[in-house]
Amino acid sequence: MADTKVYRASTTAPVNIAVVKYWGKRDAKLNLPTNSSLSVTLAQSDLRTLTTASCSASYTEGDSLLLNGEPSDVSGARTQACFRELRARRAALEAADPSLPKLSSLPLRIVSENNFPTAAGLASSAAGFAALVRAIANLYELPASPSELSLIARQGSGSACRSLFGGYVAWRMGENPDGSDSIADQVAEASHWPEMRALVLVASAAKKGVSSTSGMQQTVATSGLFAERISRVVPQHMEGMERAIRDRDFAAFAEITMRDSNSFHATCADTYPPIFYMNDVSRAAVRAVEQINAAAGRTVAAYTFDAGPNAVIYYLEQDTELVVGTFYHVLGGEVPGWKQAIISGLKPSLSLDEG
Ligand code: DP6
Repeated sequence: MADTKVYRASTTAPVNIAVVKYWGKRDAKLNLPTNSSLSVTLAQSDLRTLTTASCSASYTEGDSLLLNGEPSDVSGARTQACFRELRARRAALEAADPSLPKLSSLPLRIVSENNFPTAAGLASSAAGFAALVRAIANLYELPASPSELSLIARQGSGSACRSLFGGYVAWRMGENPDGSDSIADQVAEASHWPEMRALVLVASAAKKGVSSTSGMQQTVATSGLFAERISRVVPQHMEGMERAIRDRDFAAFAEITMRDSNSFHATCADTYPPIFYMNDVSRAAVRAVEQINAAAGRTVAAYTFDAGPNAVIYYLEQDTELVVGTFYHVLGGEVPGWKQAIISGLKPSLSLDEG
């Protein structure tokens, strides 16, 4: 009788929000970026993907993926690339030790749940692919470091390579044509700057209009500003950001975060035809941050926006009342449109649902 044993492993991966943005591919097939990027990983307890990977000869339907309860396509090149890389590493272990069960040839079943809206500009693909890669790596008992897993997760979704680490994480663009040096590393642990907080303002949980993947390719192909961004702006921001994190200099961290978000959205506006991710509600959040900082006479908060209208506001714990108080006021009716606020630390903290 055929072996119908089910092998299983589970893991969670958190969302990360870039403060120096990845936007542009130099190689779409290997998913290699045009620039390095840097992000902050949010608390697992607040925004995360929980994934179980299993494999069994009894899975006669072949490889499958259930995402938030819905069957999802696994035939896409990115998911296939992750499966292929992980299976190849497992097959090498099996070849070296014939007593190991031959998991690499069994169909995979992946079950994945987000505790936040998918594709709402909340970096769901980042946590999703990071969790998928780590769950399968655990299932296969691969002796892989987070950096090695980042190399695989990158091929699923670029930003996913940064979700394999906590704290402050850089994705180095690398130089090698095969992508072997395009990996993530940890710039600093969360405990290096534990006062850091993020307030995620959900303007819309709807699926975004232009996906990051196609948006960034349109930008690379048509924006004149883009060359300036990748050759001069981003390298400066990467250097300044690493320094700001090392020195725990919030004013510098905040200024680079806001400038980099503005620069990224400027290249989107300079794409032809233009791409608009931010809307009136997003712009109201920018103004609110400017007002908080002006009223305090110092830099208290920083905004950043990904490929959608939702805002992420970074601030330090001691300013929680000031920042959250102001945004509750904004949420409370002055600027209609915000649906939900989630406060996230870098370590487990309280999450707060508004609606
Ligand atoms: C604006 O990682 O979603 O969030 O590699 O095509 O899957 P693909 O793109 P993705 O792009 C993220 C873009 C961003 C900036 C960032 O997270 O650095």
